[in-house]
Amino acid sequence: MTAGGQPPRGSIAETVQTTDGFLRHAGREFLVVLYTAVRSLKLYPIENAQVQKALDDLTATTKHLLDVEKEIELRMQGEFIFVNSTRLRLDLDNYASFSHILGVLRQSGIGAVRIDEGVERKQLQIFVSLLLSYAAKGVTATKVFELAQKLSDAGVTHIGVEPPLETDEDTEDEERQKEAAKRTYARSVAVTKEVINSIRMGRTANVKKVKRAVQAIVDQVLNNEASLMGLTTLRDYDEYTFTHSVNVCIFSVAMGKKLGFTRLQLYDLGMTALLHDVGKARVPVTILNKTTGLDEEEWRIMQAHPWLGALTLFAMRSHDELPYRTILVAHEHHMKTDLTGYPKVVRERALGIFSRIVSVADGFDAATTRRSYQTVPIEPDQVLREMWQNPKRGYDTVMVKALINLIGVYPVGTCVILDTFEIGLVAAPNPEGQQLNRPMVRIAVDADGGSVPPPGTLVSLTEQDESGAYRRSIVKVTNPERYGLTVGDYFV
Ligand SMILES: [Fe+2]
Ligand SMILES: [Fe+2]
Repeated sequence: MTAGGQPPRGSIAETVQTTDGFLRHAGREFLVVLYTAVRSLKLYPIENAQVQKALDDLTATTKHLLDVEKEIELRMQGEFIFVNSTRLRLDLDNYASFSHILGVLRQSGIGAVRIDEGVERKQLQIFVSLLLSYAAKGVTATKVFELAQKLSDAGVTHIGVEPPLETDEDTEDEERQKEAAKRTYARSVAVTKEVINSIRMGRTANVKKVKRAVQAIVDQVLNNEASLMGLTTLRDYDEYTFTHSVNVCIFSVAMGKKLGFTRLQLYDLGMTALLHDVGKARVPVTILNKTTGLDEEEWRIMQAHPWLGALTLFAMRSHDELPYRTILVAHEHHMKTDLTGYPKVVRERALGIFSRIVSVADGFDAATTRRSYQTVPIEPDQVLREMWQNPKRGYDTVMVKALINLIGVYPVGTCVILDTFEIGLVAAPNPEGQQLNRPMVRIAVDADGGSVPPPGTLVSLTEQDESGAYRRSIVKVTNPERYGLTVGDYFV
């Protein structure tokens, strides 16, 4: 870790962090065991061994939390779950349990659950069964009070339920959208993985699911483009093929929106983008994940993925949901506008507009993502410049321009050094949409090298002093790791 990368380690800060870390961990664990208990009781009778085991686990985890915290408050706020005011983070692993529990609690009209010391296994069991039966009935305003009454009637004195807090909608809105974007992203990655794996194993892919995931992406982009775009920079998942497809889909749809496509056109564009690399399901994993350079034969196999993809999709054409353009884009996305790419074509042809969009989105995401064989990703601003200026890259410049307009010269998440010696992370393009080189930035390291903990200090690079000079300008782009910064921490 370099100087300036670490937060100051005062004793108070440390204690707070430790408790927070414990809660985050134990809180997630608690949700997972609660989810398992609810699910198994839904499927099996109470005496079933699996149900009993789930209740044992729930009891043990609850007690473990109570040993440290004395009381557990599980609170739902918008799309968030808090355990004793620590917000639990949603990620790919806990996505299913989180959304399920959130759904069950919401259907029961519950805003918060309180559990205090002295709770016993029996009480937890009654609580889980009541939760199940209440969630099954329709939502009414008084439901949570009935449930509270039932709990106390059954002698469950250490568990209480409360209605949701009336909260200020506006302040929560942005956060809620962010969380919704995360769920859309996680779901799309899961769906893509499922498709690629089914094809790999020779099964039919579930096109309907892909379509629903794409529609969610399109809706989100039309609603609030920034929240989903921000997620494309959080490339801390190691499942490149899947996250790459989702990123390409998000970029393509956002570009399509800029180009004035209708919602239905965007659905089709999104499908073609999400499935553009589907041919990679036919490429051996050993080649896909190779960390060293590929030899000639391996390149040949890798470069077969466009036509393998086209064939795969052609075989799936009986699905009405699959636009015929998915076949075209899978085939054309590496051809380049001057046709010097692959696969080689004999006759002169013009690439379809969807292919031209997806190629640009694809090239940008591939070049800015660190892959197994790249130790350092190329900085996004250089990538855009190269795509824009070097005709040999074979991108349609109108489409590159659309991408630049969309993400600014410095895409969200780019780490920049400012002329004030501060270091920041680009948070959003300039809201006025004019000065592409003056985005909004979150200062993460101050001028003296001291770190500014997440979310950092948000500044606009268009701010001017009394004399009209800009207060801050970007000097250069740098690698956040040099300063011990984890980009994701500043955007979650
Ligand atoms: Fe590809
Ligand atoms: Fe690709």
